[in-house]
Amino acid sequence: MIIAVDGPAASGKGTIAKALARHYGLPCLDTGLLYRAVGLSVLKRGGDPDIKADALAACDFGDEILADPALRSEAVGSLASRVSVHQVVRDALIARQRDFATQPGGAILDGRDIGTVIAPDADAKIFVTASVHVRAERRYKDGVAQGGHPDMDSLIADIQARDTRDMSRDHAPLKIADGADLLDTSDLTIDAAVQRAIALVDAQLEGRPKG
Ligand code: CDP
Ligand code: CDP
Repeated sequence: MIIAVDGPAASGKGTIAKALARHYGLPCLDTGLLYRAVGLSVLKRGGDPDIKADALAACDFGDEILADPALRSEAVGSLASRVSVHQVVRDALIARQRDFATQPGGAILDGRDIGTVIAPDADAKIFVTASVHVRAERRYKDGVAQGGHPDMDSLIADIQARDTRDMSRDHAPLKIADGADLLDTSDLTIDAAVQRAIALVDAQLEGRPKG
């Protein structure tokens, strides 16, 4: 069984994917971390994320970068979004994601193109979204909780820029996959969003009308 969870930054897709993984007893992969690793690696190598050859060289990252605390920052999210427009970067990361998706027993993956490119035949697909303002507020709260001093206006601008780049790129743009159910978490608590996601997945798995 493969469950695909896609959506824009801070929509809650990671939180929902992990909760679904616990509920269904499946392993979960946050595919954004792979693109973030390429973004951080290009930075550490002094490369330019917009230059294809630099981005491709950065795909050869060591797995220790996946544990780097800087990986979760919005600055690295933005670098990830810039390197991920290159098809060569997407190609370099595809085998790892497909291997994870097709492991025996099944898997849950979250990202931007799971339901469209990585696992178009997934058994269930959810597209998680929320308003830009709510998403920026979530990042604001996360930043404060980590002892930072985030600026709401720049968070909104960063999220909007990333949304636009991710939705308008030529390769694997962010969009709602065929057969995916939309889950708007703007006005939902985490618990309510998770319950709704479970209901949508159960309905898709049973092939019955969603309620
Ligand atoms: O957690 P957040 O939604 O902020 O970002 P992420 O999922 O870690 O992804 C960072 C960036 O990587 C995104 O803005 C996308 O440009 C890119 N990405 C992608 O192109 N395809 C994926 N499957 C996952 C992420
Ligand atoms: O993975 P993605 O970037 O889409 O978002 P996330 O990391 O799952 O969630 C971003 C933040 O929003 C986290 O602090 C979540 O706890 C919070 N969140 C929320 O407040 N309400 C939801 N319904 C879902 C997530």
